[in-house]
Amino acid sequence: MSTPLVLGIETSCDETGVGLVSEGRLLGDALASSMEEHARFGGVVPEVAARAHLEAMAPMVRTALQRAEVDLADVTAVAVTAGPGLSPALQVGLAAGKAYALAAGVPLYAVHHLAGHAAVDVLEHGPLPESCVALIVSGGHTSLLSVGDLARDEVVHLGDTVDDAAGEAFDKVARLIGLPYPGGPAIDRAAREGDPRAIAFPRPLTGPSDPPWTFSFSGLKTAVARWVEAHDGPLPVPDVAASFQEAVADTLARKAVAACADQGADTLLMVGGVAANSRVRGLVEERCAAAGITLRVPPIRLCTDNGAMIAALGDLLVRADVEPDPLDVAADPRARL
Ligand code: KG4
Ligand code: ZN
Repeated sequence: MSTPLVLGIETSCDETGVGLVSEGRLLGDALASSMEEHARFGGVVPEVAARAHLEAMAPMVRTALQRAEVDLADVTAVAVTAGPGLSPALQVGLAAGKAYALAAGVPLYAVHHLAGHAAVDVLEHGPLPESCVALIVSGGHTSLLSVGDLARDEVVHLGDTVDDAAGEAFDKVARLIGLPYPGGPAIDRAAREGDPRAIAFPRPLTGPSDPPWTFSFSGLKTAVARWVEAHDGPLPVPDVAASFQEAVADTLARKAVAACADQGADTLLMVGGVAANSRVRGLVEERCAAAGITLRVPPIRLCTDNGAMIAALGDLLVRADVEPDPLDVAADPRARL
């Protein structure tokens, strides 16, 4: 039998990601983003993203193959994101995945985007423990998952945000206080000069009668907007940034650590663009250490949407002898776990 080599394809949002993984090792990957094309619309436009995926797909596959120093003929399975995500964007990736699987005569795995986010850390830190909790925090998601054996679909949604994602809140608050896009890194930088206790912003949904694994960041954003409106004189940008960032970090850390305790998990996996935030990382680290929880955070380039994470998940499925999907499998923009 030839060495397993999984080609992973990710197109759920504005990133065209391609990765090649063999037995838990990332051999090569490539990424194109249409983020700049969406900036003037103030958000990702699905049709614009789909067109960009169509243009970038074959070049990214070629680049990833070159970086991995393999040929398409060496690929033994294709994994592709089937959902959740923007429908037109998903369709392009799924069509490409089917075409490559058909052309190479290899099985196709249509996989869940969030399970891919959880699987990616295997590439950096080796096999996941029998069970863990995953906190996925990016511009698109804020989700808590209970993760068992990913190859057996043992992944359960504990909770999500009911409105804005954490990264979205960073981006919107940055705009409110005159910081550039993307807001997360800008707030992170500004906050270094500020006092996190200067303003007492709310920790949404952390009360005793609130749903424990549900997030909501739109009220926090409104609280910042109100504070800014009511403030006379020059805006203390570093203090607002630090206080807002503290509220997000505290909310994420509290819920994630409580979810680990509830699930009896001794490992927390944190992924997504917001995992790059110095205070989020610092506070989650601190609280995990205090609770005896091991924190696993993959390097940031694997934390954000990419093809390697989908290849990593496909590789787990292949190695567990999971039945592949038929070539007429449909995209599922609202896929649940
Ligand atoms: O995972 P990601 O790159 O993309 C998707 O959401 O698909 O996450 C991007 C989000 C943006 O909202 C950005 O502001 C946020 O991650 N982000 C940060 C930081 N770096 C990126 N948020 C807070 N602090 C950061 N240092
Ligand atoms: Zn994602």
